[in-house]
Amino acid sequence: MRNTEGVRPAGTLRRTGSPGPKGWTWAGTTGRLRLVTRAVRLEPVDEGNLEPLLSVAAAEAEPEDVMPPVEAPAGWSLARRDAFREFHRASFGGLDGPTRTLMFAIVAGGEVVGMVRMTRCDEPGTVETGMWLGRSARGQGLGAAALRELLNAAAAAGMRTVVAETTPDNHGAISVLKKCGAELREKDGKLHAEMCLDSALPAR
Ligand SMILES: CC(C)(COP(=O)(O)OP(=O)(O)OC[C@H]1O[C@@H](n2cnc3c(N)ncnc32)[C@H](O)[C@@H]1OP(=O)(O)O)[C@@H](O)C(=O)NCCC(=O)NCCS
Repeated sequence: MRNTEGVRPAGTLRRTGSPGPKGWTWAGTTGRLRLVTRAVRLEPVDEGNLEPLLSVAAAEAEPEDVMPPVEAPAGWSLARRDAFREFHRASFGGLDGPTRTLMFAIVAGGEVVGMVRMTRCDEPGTVETGMWLGRSARGQGLGAAALRELLNAAAAAGMRTVVAETTPDNHGAISVLKKCGAELREKDGKLHAEMCLDSALPAR
């Protein structure tokens, strides 16, 4: 994986020894282990981070969680890996490109750990989002941190509303959406989420 410099919350993180279990960090002057949600950084997906992103996907995610279905042998076959690259390259043009999608690699602790995207909807000022993390990065609050960064990026791009769709049994996704202030409603077996960017984003 690419070893880019990670981002740490200013003044909050002091490593006095080896890092603790994932998501836990030695911090403060007492040397006690406490939970410090690691900061994430979003990098537009490009040729520079595409291979690290594919490595995480292939090692730590199911194809159906990270890309549309393709005709290919099951698992992370060569054909599926090529399709993964082409799927992401198709969105290098961003919100005004052919797929109207801006994809970001989620970087935590200097490592690519997943992807979050936004796609222009027909409704002006509205984008739809989706995301995934590698298995070892889940359950640490990184999903909510990445979605907050995505909401900031959407606001900076002039958007007013971010919507998402998931299934009622996706506990992780629902939790992340709620943490980011989403209003949820269920319809036809799907859960629709709406986040309004006019109001202040919830505190971290
Ligand atoms: C959905 C997803 C992005 C959530 O991100 P995340 O960083 O794991 O989210 P959080 O750390 O805030 O955890 C969310 C909840 O799921 C639980 N959870 C998810 N994965 C977990 C894991 N591997 N271990 C333990 N708990 C986990 C957490 O306990 C947490 O529950 P809580 O909020 O009630 O305490 C991530 O689980 C994922 O990539 N899933 C596969 C792809 C997917 O479903 N994408 C969404 C499509 S709509």
